[in-house]
Amino acid sequence: MKYFFLALISFAILIVGVFGLRGDKFSQAPIEVFPDMDHQDKVKAQTANSFFADGMGSRRPVIGTVPKYADSGIMPLEFGVGRSGYYFDGKLDGSFGNGMPVELSLSDESDSIGFLARGEDMFNVHCAICHGKSGDGKGVVAAYFAKADPIITVPSLLTALPATHPDGLIYDVISNGKGGMGAYKHNIPVRDRWAIVAYLRALQTSNN
Ligand code: HEC
Repeated sequence: MKYFFLALISFAILIVGVFGLRGDKFSQAPIEVFPDMDHQDKVKAQTANSFFADGMGSRRPVIGTVPKYADSGIMPLEFGVGRSGYYFDGKLDGSFGNGMPVELSLSDESDSIGFLARGEDMFNVHCAICHGKSGDGKGVVAAYFAKADPIITVPSLLTALPATHPDGLIYDVISNGKGGMGAYKHNIPVRDRWAIVAYLRALQTSNN
């Protein structure tokens, strides 16, 4: 008999537990059998947090990352959208100019060496797939185009010399694309585009 009552009480609790009090409002927090991730260790914005050495919950962007809409000139990486002037559009008095913009502040040899090395890295990342590592127009994608889409031919960049292709023009092609080549103004920051131009000149010089 004892067991019958125990079973009955358990059964009643089970029924009430499953079906009872559904939809009712409580002023107190419910009993949590399964917490369902209601409580987590997390950092809340604009609050103090002892986890970090400076005690702040809000963090600065990680160095080297590009926050969306960062193109205000305030952030260190500049994509130059909507800005004008030689540094941003490669044009001097309306036509493409030659020479590296002063904004790059390349004052001594070590600046220039670092700048060229950056240009090499960026060229190999963004351009070599089509134009080839040496700039001869024989990258892997060029070979693919030749088979899949013979309308597009990837030119050698070794003949795009300053007399016919001023620095500003090459900068503009990188920024806005040309024919079968896409625009890179949203992917490569302004400074890196100029670094690519400089590296391209180095490739041309070593080729001649
Ligand atoms: C998807 C393949 C592809 C990539 C990647 C690419 N290009 Fe091009 N590029 C082309 C094609 C195709 C053309 C020819 C466009 C035309 O004239 O119709 C071209 C043209 C050019 C020209 C103009 C050459 C001329 O004689 O007018 C320059 C300069 C150039 N690219 C530089 C670059 C640089 C620098 C990069 C890297 C930021 C790059 N390209 C990335 C395919 C590519």
